[in-house]
Amino acid sequence: MTASIRIAPSILSADFARLGEEVRAIEKAGADLVHFDVMDNHYVPNLTIGPLVCEAIRPHVKIGIDVHLMVEPVDALIPLFAKAGANLITFHPEASRHVDRTLQLIRDHGCKAGLVLNPATPVQVLDHVWDRLDMVLLMSVNPGFGGQKFIPSTLPKLRAIRAAIEAHKAAGGQDIWLEVDGGVKVDNIAEIVRAGADTCVAGSAVFGAPDADGGYHGVMKALRAEAAKGLS
Ligand code: DX5
Ligand code: ZN
Repeated sequence: MTASIRIAPSILSADFARLGEEVRAIEKAGADLVHFDVMDNHYVPNLTIGPLVCEAIRPHVKIGIDVHLMVEPVDALIPLFAKAGANLITFHPEASRHVDRTLQLIRDHGCKAGLVLNPATPVQVLDHVWDRLDMVLLMSVNPGFGGQKFIPSTLPKLRAIRAAIEAHKAAGGQDIWLEVDGGVKVDNIAEIVRAGADTCVAGSAVFGAPDADGGYHGVMKALRAEAAKGLS
């Protein structure tokens, strides 16, 4: 396990009219990544932001941009997001005909690659692609909307994936981040970390709790303090 937890605020809950300011504020408050949710009204029943918005926020922050693609098909968007400054790109295996090829394509474009598992997606989907993964993103809600409730069956699934990652590393494999997305709050992040997550997305928990000056130091500090309890 990693010594400290990465926190990735999801800008899905940010004020889109002030996105540059919002990403600067989360970086200032210690965010490790910007989580960037891409929805296409096809793979998921919602429509959000694309490569142009990624490119627009890129100069505002130094931290990595973690692009979560909820789109189908996937491949055509990968070069566009890589060019727009994405650092990590994850996609849902159900949305790509050729998962292995899509994972390679992401790395070929210089980004870290990951697969996203929905609540009903079995862990076995990872079986033959461990070497191609830099991250596994485990959904703890069904994708499409911010502000949903954490699904408790995510916890045993997190433990199973954590054990598989550790076994992969023990057999000489590369490190793979384990990110959880959906319903992460100050009051459940400790048990999420205890179950094996090293990277936590938080959308409504962060952007719904601004400091008096509009920053996010208070909530980020609280998330980090609680996350640390899960490591001890
Ligand atoms: C849901 C998105 C999430 C979402 C999380 O489909 O992938 O990243 O923004 O929002 P919260 O933290 O509010 O559940
Ligand atoms: Zn997401």
